[in-house]
Amino acid sequence: MDMTTKSCREFVTVLASNEPAPGGGGAAALVALNDILTSEELPTLVVLITAGLGIMIGSVTFTGSLIAAGKLQGVKFLRKLTLPAKGVWNIGFIVLTVVSFVMLCVQPEQRLLWCVLTTVFSLCYGLVFVIPIGGADMPVVISVLNACTGTAVAMSGLAINNIALIVAGALVGAAGVTLSLAMSKAMNRPLMSVLAGGFGGGASAGGDADGPEGTMKESADDVAVQLVYADKVIFVPGFGLAQAQAQRELADLGDLLKGHGVEVSYAIHPVAGRMPGHMNVLLAEANVPYEELIDLDDINPQFPSANVALVVGANDVTNPAARRPGTPVSGMPILDVDKAQNVVVMKRGRGKGYAGIENELYFEPNTQMLFGDAKAGLQSVIAAVKELI
Ligand code: TAP
Repeated sequence: MDMTTKSCREFVTVLASNEPAPGGGGAAALVALNDILTSEELPTLVVLITAGLGIMIGSVTFTGSLIAAGKLQGVKFLRKLTLPAKGVWNIGFIVLTVVSFVMLCVQPEQRLLWCVLTTVFSLCYGLVFVIPIGGADMPVVISVLNACTGTAVAMSGLAINNIALIVAGALVGAAGVTLSLAMSKAMNRPLMSVLAGGFGGGASAGGDADGPEGTMKESADDVAVQLVYADKVIFVPGFGLAQAQAQRELADLGDLLKGHGVEVSYAIHPVAGRMPGHMNVLLAEANVPYEELIDLDDINPQFPSANVALVVGANDVTNPAARRPGTPVSGMPILDVDKAQNVVVMKRGRGKGYAGIENELYFEPNTQMLFGDAKAGLQSVIAAVKELI
């Protein structure tokens, strides 16, 4: 890979990595506040509007991203936090924020008062907007917040007439909007439902209190035998494969099995991993032929005829709980891995996925768990397969 391709990939990774970034929104709000409050003359209407928008959007993004980051870090208090009558709080703070912003534009001589109120109400709105959201809504909300960060930066750039801020903010904003739309479509979550405060029944990322029924079978000694004697095998890669950088091992295992006459395909979920197309890029890097990467709609009907589905570091995208209402992943399209004749799941242990809930697949009678790092695990399976063929 040449340096340009590498740099482009790194740039796209940064843009699309979809992690909450409170600093950007906060900084944009501070730049706009500084511009309005330190000018000796009355700011023009254009400056008031652009800086006011920078303060509003930047402040919402700041507190919203802090809550999102805390939830993703697994801060228990935040994960369990709920907000009764969330609609009332949301609408209340939106109205208060907009009124103070309008007053700032109408009464610039009172700008200290209106700036303080706009900032405080926007900060509060960021809190009440993100507190009720969790589970599979979270990635969409984070990309919306990142789009807002870009917009706030662009607005502050317009207020202080800084071309670099305008261009950078517009780029991040546009990338964030595109990503939000793509993700809400892939996860079957209308953007407006997510923004209105959560899709999956309040969607606390805390998960089901009772946990799934059944027992987890924690031994999978005969994986190599199952694979070698199968007619059809489907690999299901997820974030853990990327984390372990085990794409080459998976491709090697695929090549071995194909050489032995086994039909091998790779099931690609649109939000597997942490950015759009994550699995496609990883597997392309390992020279897996494009025709073997099969999208969700085309691979799902094939699971019942697969002798083995080998799940490597995928969790949420295989959770049958998505088919039931009232769970944090409800409504999200999933790969029908549980319908395969035998399922082997490779992951390090009992860690949860991004949505923070237990995966019912692991407790199904046809599922066996193979605990360990994906790379080391695949290397052992490859060695065992080589002994058998
Ligand atoms: P996840 O649900 O995140 O699960 C990944 C699993 O990999 C974890 O349960 C973890 O379990 C395992 N793992 C981690 N490191 C490993 C390693 N070194 N070796 C083996 N296993 C390892 O992944 P997924 O199924 O791909 O789903 C993606 C999730 O991310 C979805 O909820 C999606 O909404 C969200 N999301 C997606 C995007 C985009 S655009 N793709 C962006 C942001 C968020 P252990 O800890 O037990 O190993």
